[in-house]
Amino acid sequence: MSTVAVTGGTGTLGRKVVSALERAGHDVVVTSRSTSSVRDGVETVRVDYRSSAGLAAAFDGADAVVHCATDFTGFRGGEVALGRQVLTAARRAGCEHLVYVSIVGVDRIPLPYYRSKHATERLVEDSGVPWTILRATQFHELAIRLLSGLTRPPLVLVPDLRLQPVAATEVGARLAALATARPAGRAPDMGGPEITTVADLARRYLAAAGRRRRVRTVRLFGSVYAGYRAGHHLTPENAVGTITFQDHLDAHVRSSR
Ligand SMILES: NC(=O)c1ccc[n+]([C@@H]2O[C@H](COP(=O)([O-])OP(=O)(O)OC[C@H]3O[C@@H](n4cnc5c(N)ncnc54)[C@H](OP(=O)(O)O)[C@@H]3O)[C@@H](O)[C@H]2O)c1
Repeated sequence: MSTVAVTGGTGTLGRKVVSALERAGHDVVVTSRSTSSVRDGVETVRVDYRSSAGLAAAFDGADAVVHCATDFTGFRGGEVALGRQVLTAARRAGCEHLVYVSIVGVDRIPLPYYRSKHATERLVEDSGVPWTILRATQFHELAIRLLSGLTRPPLVLVPDLRLQPVAATEVGARLAALATARPAGRAPDMGGPEITTVADLARRYLAAAGRRRRVRTVRLFGSVYAGYRAGHHLTPENAVGTITFQDHLDAHVRSSR
C-alpha cells in the first residue's frame, strides 16, 4: 500500500484518480485551494500554490504525487509556475515519484495553454525528481461541455476537426496505476477508442438531448487549427480507452434526468 498525494484532486480528472487509488487500497491526500468541494473521507489539505511551503508539508510522507491541478491561463505562465511550486515541494518532501498529466500534441499545436503544458513537461523532466508523464486526448466531459455551448444556437456551427475523446475515469485509473509503479518517464500516450468529427459528436449530442438542429462545419484558419486539422492531438496507435463517447453520453443523459 502506498500514500499518494493528488494535486487538484477536486477536478474532473483528479476525482477519478482519487477514486481509483482508494479502490486499490492506497492512502490518498488531496491538495486544494479550498476544502469545500471535497467529499467526506478524503484527507484534504488546503494549500496556496504560490508557495511551496504548505505543499511540502502536504506531500510529507507521500510515496508519489500525481499533479492534476492546472492553471488554464497558459499565456500568463500559470501552469509553469504551478508546476515549479509542486516540483520544489516534492523535492523538499523527499518524494520519490512525480506523475504529471499532459495532453497529446502539446509539442506540436501552438495553443498558449499547450505551450505551457509542454514547458511544464520539460520542467518535470529536468527536476531531479523521478517522474512519469502521461499525455491523454480530450476527455468526454470536455467534449460534452463544448458541445453544450456550441449546440445552443438554432444553426449549430462546429469546427471541421476530429476528436478522439477518452473517459476521464480510464485516464484516472491509468494515472493511479502509474503512480503506484516505478517512475516510467514518458508513458505511452492514452487516447479514446474512436476518432470522429466534432460534427458527428454534435449530432449525437443533439439526438441524445432530443433537440433538432442543423449542424454545419466551418473551416478555421491559423497555426493552432492547422495543428488540429493535421491531427496532432490524436493518437490512433494508442486508442486504448474502452468507454466510447456514446457510452458516456448515454450515462450523462440518464444521470441528468
Ligand atoms: N480536460 C481534458 O480534456 C484534458 C485532457 C488531457 C489532459 N488534461 C489535463 O488533466 C489535468 C486536469 O484537468 P481537468 O479537466 O480535470 O481540470 P479541472 O476539472 O479544471 O480541475 C483542475 C483542478 O485544478 C485546480 N485549479 C484550477 N485553477 C487553478 C489555479 N489557477 N491554480 C492552482 N490550481 C488550480 C482546481 O482545484 P481546487 O479548486 O480544488 O484548487 C481544479 O479542481 C490538467 O493538467 C489538464 O491539462 C485534461
